[in-house]
Amino acid sequence: MTLPTTVLGTNGPVVGIQGLGCMGMSEFYGPTDTAEALATLDAALDLGVTLFDTADIYGAGQNEELIGPFVRANRDKVVLATKFAIERRADDPAYRGVRNDPAYIRAAVDASLRRLGVDVIDLYYMHRRDPNVPLAESVGAMAELVQAGKVRHLGLSEVTGDELREAYGVHPIAAVQSEWSIFSRDVERTAVPAAAELGVAFVPYSPLGRGFLTGAFKAAEQLAEGDYRRSHPQFSGANADRNAALVEPIQKIAAGRGVSAAQVALAWVHQRAEVHGLTVVPIPGTRKRTRLAENTAAATLRLTSEELAELEPIAGRVTGDRYADMTFTSAGRE
Ligand SMILES: NC(=O)c1ccc[n+]([C@@H]2O[C@H](COP(=O)([O-])OP(=O)(O)OC[C@H]3O[C@@H](n4cnc5c(N)ncnc54)[C@H](OP(=O)(O)O)[C@@H]3O)[C@@H](O)[C@H]2O)c1
Repeated sequence: MTLPTTVLGTNGPVVGIQGLGCMGMSEFYGPTDTAEALATLDAALDLGVTLFDTADIYGAGQNEELIGPFVRANRDKVVLATKFAIERRADDPAYRGVRNDPAYIRAAVDASLRRLGVDVIDLYYMHRRDPNVPLAESVGAMAELVQAGKVRHLGLSEVTGDELREAYGVHPIAAVQSEWSIFSRDVERTAVPAAAELGVAFVPYSPLGRGFLTGAFKAAEQLAEGDYRRSHPQFSGANADRNAALVEPIQKIAAGRGVSAAQVALAWVHQRAEVHGLTVVPIPGTRKRTRLAENTAAATLRLTSEELAELEPIAGRVTGDRYADMTFTSAGRE
């Protein structure tokens, strides 16, 4: 099977309807294995996955360096997405700052191009919004990168509907990338309706709830020391117990259909396209080849209206925020 394709935004790139999140191949979600990661990239492309998602902060640049040779070897087939805006400091691994000023953007794109070893990025996202910098200035600087031929299309991550409309007034936006899953539906308040209205595609990140929806772990303590998900309120303490029980209906539907819980979670995200009237290209993350056939098969799995109805109340019952610090999320500004 090869994935069907779709277009990201009005004049955006053609991509397989499911992409691949590369973040965990370098950092955040447990041990990494370079050889397996590289084999996973090749296997994904073979199945029709063409949208490959990275960011300058993943592994503090290492993730861009990791996927660079794969992108160069398959340049005509791969749609390369990366991001700027989150600043890290070598002397303080926990530090995160947000930078949207034009000088920072111009330096960030050159650094990403150098690490990736390519001369153009297909889709360049603003990873987080700094409300202290006028959006027109930031998107104006991003538009100049398109004119300079360094970037082909623009995207935004974790923006509100109003921010998306304002940005679109400066330059067309191909895609919004924000968290969207059976557990996390903040985006349906303003970003999704604005994207549908403007013809902007949605690229849901963490469509598997960072793995929690698959049943792979039930609490932060089950994760390796240093796994970033240990800091997530939804996976900690009493929240984890309550939220793990909410995964049970997903597992029940999966058992009834003879598919995996991961496939039900992904099918639900894919079916948002019809519910909300927009293009939806989720980017499940994996470090392993063995997940790919399973995850891509979910793109064409159809849940019935009864199954969708069973999953509908889950997000409203989830306890705990999706980040320890919600300041820089779209929900934090709505
Ligand atoms: N814009 C943003 O702010 C933002 C934030 C977070 C992530 N992202 C992007 O979105 C991508 C995806 O999000 P995510 O990685 O956070 O979360 P996710 O896709 O919801 O879940 C990834 C986790 O699920 C596991 N997994 C994948 N397929 C599975 C399967 N079939 N069965 C069981 N477990 C499975 C993976 O483990 P294995 O590796 O062991 O398979 C990994 O631990 C990232 O890679 C990144 O590119 C963007």
